[in-house]
Amino acid sequence: VTGKGGTGKTTVAAALAIASSSGGRRALLCEVEGRQGIAQLFDVAPLEYAERKIPGAGVDDGEVYALAVDAEAALLEYLAMYYRLGRAGKALDRFGVIDFATTVAPGVRDVLLTGKVYEAARRRDDAADFVYDAIVVDAPPTGRIARFLGVNDDVAGLAKVGPIKRQATSIMSMLRSDQTRVHLVTVLEEMPVQETLDGIAELRAAQLPVGRVIANMVRPQRMSERTQSALSSGSVDADAVAASLEAVGLPPRAADELIAGGLAHLRRHELQERQRALLEVGSTELLELPLLPDGVDLGALFELAERLAS
Ligand SMILES: Nc1ncnc2c1ncn2[C@@H]1O[C@H](COP(=O)(O)OP(=O)(O)O)[C@@H](O)[C@H]1O
Ligand SMILES: [Mg+2]
Repeated sequence: VTGKGGTGKTTVAAALAIASSSGGRRALLCEVEGRQGIAQLFDVAPLEYAERKIPGAGVDDGEVYALAVDAEAALLEYLAMYYRLGRAGKALDRFGVIDFATTVAPGVRDVLLTGKVYEAARRRDDAADFVYDAIVVDAPPTGRIARFLGVNDDVAGLAKVGPIKRQATSIMSMLRSDQTRVHLVTVLEEMPVQETLDGIAELRAAQLPVGRVIANMVRPQRMSERTQSALSSGSVDADAVAASLEAVGLPPRAADELIAGGLAHLRRHELQERQRALLEVGSTELLELPLLPDGVDLGALFELAERLAS
């Protein structure tokens, strides 16, 4: 799940993980940017580099696990797994080598982060079943997503042969396969919609599978057609509004402000409709999630999950 910052990427990723747990399934929700947004959202202790079940987050008998993928920890794990550098790896960490390796080239971080997601996606239990039925990644923002997911193309290009080449090629095959979808979250405003359209173009160019566009925080139109056309033609009778306000015990002097507020809402709504039209041209399957007036708590996440599921 990608999207411009602040559009609800983390919220939608969490709701999608909840929805993916229905029917007794097990979902893993991954954070890769070290923000602890998921822990805050579910009101649990900060996530670590160890998968942890989030109590009460599954649907029916389903389960939602969460993980904060950390590049340094992923590198240590990688060294331990492939080079049996258990204790030596820790020493590298102490000498700052791990830190160096993960900060010297931003691409290295992305290799490690996507590598961990790949590992979790392939992991099987003792009965040889996949441990997770679905993995949802709260991914980097739209401007970075194609590079983030495509980083293993570069690695595969650099390493001509050997295990690194094989691993990088396998990760890219998984990301390009039918198993993967990149969903884009946006709000119906100019900048995020433009970024979404650009993001879709970049993902397609990189042959990465574009999933759904999710328009989040969509404002419902609460005014009648009659009110809308009266407001836009400027034919609202301020005296009549003042009289109705007075009749229900509200201050009649609020009439002008109420009309101005109504007009602002109308303009905003028109903007929203224009942006929706742009997205409907650019991408076929637009999903909409409403702006929840009381913000997002666990109950609201379940509500959003239900809408995504349906
Ligand atoms: N559908 C919604 N209705 C109301 N508030 C929302 C909705 N989706 C997200 N928010 C709020 O918007 C803010 C940004 O959401 P967040 O998921 O953290 O965005 P991002 O991860 O893209 O930065 C948060 O305060 C969140 O609670
Ligand atoms: Mg976030």
